[in-house]
Amino acid sequence: MYDHGPDLGRNDECWCGSGRKYKKCHSDFDERLQALHEAGELVPARELLKMSEDVAGVRRSAAVNVGALDYVASRIGPGVTTGDIDRWVHDYTVEHGATPAPLGYEGFPKSVCTSVDEVVCHGIPSDDELLREGDIVNVDCSTILDGYYSDSSRMFMIGEVTPEKEQLVRVTKEALEKGLEAVRPWGHLGDVGAAVHAHAKAHGYTVVREFGGHGIGLDFHEDPFVSFVTKPGTGEILVPGLMFTIEPMVNMGKARIDMNDPNGWTVRTHDRKPTAQWEVQIVVTEDGYELLSW
Ligand code: MF3
Ligand code: CO
Repeated sequence: MYDHGPDLGRNDECWCGSGRKYKKCHSDFDERLQALHEAGELVPARELLKMSEDVAGVRRSAAVNVGALDYVASRIGPGVTTGDIDRWVHDYTVEHGATPAPLGYEGFPKSVCTSVDEVVCHGIPSDDELLREGDIVNVDCSTILDGYYSDSSRMFMIGEVTPEKEQLVRVTKEALEKGLEAVRPWGHLGDVGAAVHAHAKAHGYTVVREFGGHGIGLDFHEDPFVSFVTKPGTGEILVPGLMFTIEPMVNMGKARIDMNDPNGWTVRTHDRKPTAQWEVQIVVTEDGYELLSW
């Protein structure tokens, strides 16, 4: 097969774990994948596809991830430090039997990413960083439960923010929603990025190119890379079972980013103008998608 994965006989047990015979299970599905590959399409390897047991595991992980973000939402405001947010996420996650995925990931020192104003992503929480009226902050939360990964992020506006920042936060969320609307089983991943980009661009914003969404489930970052500067009809086929995040970073100013912070993590806009990001995790289904974490 195209993915160098199992090539099964009709009466063999299917690769998907259903216990059924291949001919009664994924044989037609595999033929469709193989034909798409031969037609020149990018077809995700079957080992990336999540079957019902794995989806159920991710749902349990995502329930903790969403709960942690809801907990942050209920307490965040002026006078809170990003160090407080880190402790809330850490303690909530651990109390629910899970592990914060960022903690120790490639040396990341905290349990959550907190990115204020011109910080694009990967901001490191600190007790010295006080949130003040007018700030916008992305809280990016990721959870491991029983080996299953979930990942989502939200923007929070601290007190009254300027209309410009409010619009950036709102349009970025709308762009993500346009991306979700473009998810069609057997469609293309590039449709998603194109929809996100078009909406951001229509408001005069730019989209960060260097970072994007990613496959996820049994690992924090799996294939495919989910870019938000894509052309419709390009990229991987959205095969049912493909699980990934949609997480555009939208800049008020230029798209260029600055990755030179000495801490090795904090990414800023080059022009120091504000930036926003929302992130959801989905799995493609036979008739659309299931939202797992938001
Ligand atoms: N949560 C980020 C994402 O959406 C990844 C953060 S990596 C970390 O993919 F180490 F900074 F946590
Ligand atoms: Co992510």
